[in-house]
Amino acid sequence: MAAFRIVCMASPSDLIPGLTEPVPLQNLVIQKGPLASIHLDVLRLDLVHPLVSGNKWYKLKYNLDDCLKHGVRTVVSFGGAWSNHLHALAAACQVVGVEVVGVIRGHKPDVLSPSLKDMQAMGMRLHFVTREAYRRRYDAEFHSELIDALGCDPAVTRIIPEGGSNASAMLGCAEILSLHGIQPDDYDCIAAACGTGATLAGLIFGAEGKGRFLGVPVLKGGDFLVQDIRKRLMDFGCDYQNWQLRTEFHCGGYARQTDELQQFIRRFSEETGVPLDRVYTGKLFFALERLVESGDILPGSRILAIHTGGLQGNRSLTES
Ligand SMILES: Cc1ncc(COP(=O)(O)O)c(C=O)c1O
Repeated sequence: MAAFRIVCMASPSDLIPGLTEPVPLQNLVIQKGPLASIHLDVLRLDLVHPLVSGNKWYKLKYNLDDCLKHGVRTVVSFGGAWSNHLHALAAACQVVGVEVVGVIRGHKPDVLSPSLKDMQAMGMRLHFVTREAYRRRYDAEFHSELIDALGCDPAVTRIIPEGGSNASAMLGCAEILSLHGIQPDDYDCIAAACGTGATLAGLIFGAEGKGRFLGVPVLKGGDFLVQDIRKRLMDFGCDYQNWQLRTEFHCGGYARQTDELQQFIRRFSEETGVPLDRVYTGKLFFALERLVESGDILPGSRILAIHTGGLQGNRSLTES
């Protein structure tokens, strides 16, 4: 009981030892190519924690806090074999002492991916479901079936959606800029990669109508995210219009890549020393370079890019 009281009094940032906050806000000195003509800062959320890294910490902090406050004993969440979200969740739940189940899309492979191996080693129970079943991941009936099949007590089990993308995640992401002393108006544009759009929605919400935001969806056909992000903002009573998405930089779709993207990531990382992942942040910086080249971003613009982490997923490169 005493331990529970201590947890309740702590701030979410006390939950995970080893967090490095604030993270560096780094100005990139780029000598050649289109990006040399702009002022480019990067907020290195990839450095916030070795395992609960990038936007994941901000998406999970109020989720975990809430679970502990409500005596949740098991967390169940969803993702693929390389999920950054499940990887970070496994690490965080191990630290806070909550049982965790990862519902994984697709059949169990003969050999687990390094990400899945890590998740298992960190104590996550892996539950593989068919792709067809996985499509029901937002369905309450499926959640009850899962809780039953897993033998969990529904009263103390919490379902966290894929990517951790719920209202608590938005609250965590809403704090990212203010925690780092960033005034949104100091930039012409603040840019982030989008999967579900919850991180971008949180950033926009936290800026209270100030600044201009750009989202780069990493999946093909990302236009649907306009409605999703609008809805996420409306759920918090906001209809801010100071944002846009550029959906043409998916490079073939989610986790797909082109030779051009690969070359870009290599060149950018060599020149700046900033490592990029190939699924999210690689496409973000690639999009920024293309947008400067096309004149959509003007020379001299002040741009802030949010590095949302995801580097553990790069291990899939050596697998393919
Ligand atoms: C490394 C990384 N960056 C960006 C995103 C996109 O975040 P969101 O789904 O909130 O748009 C994700 C997915 O959660 C991610 O793993």
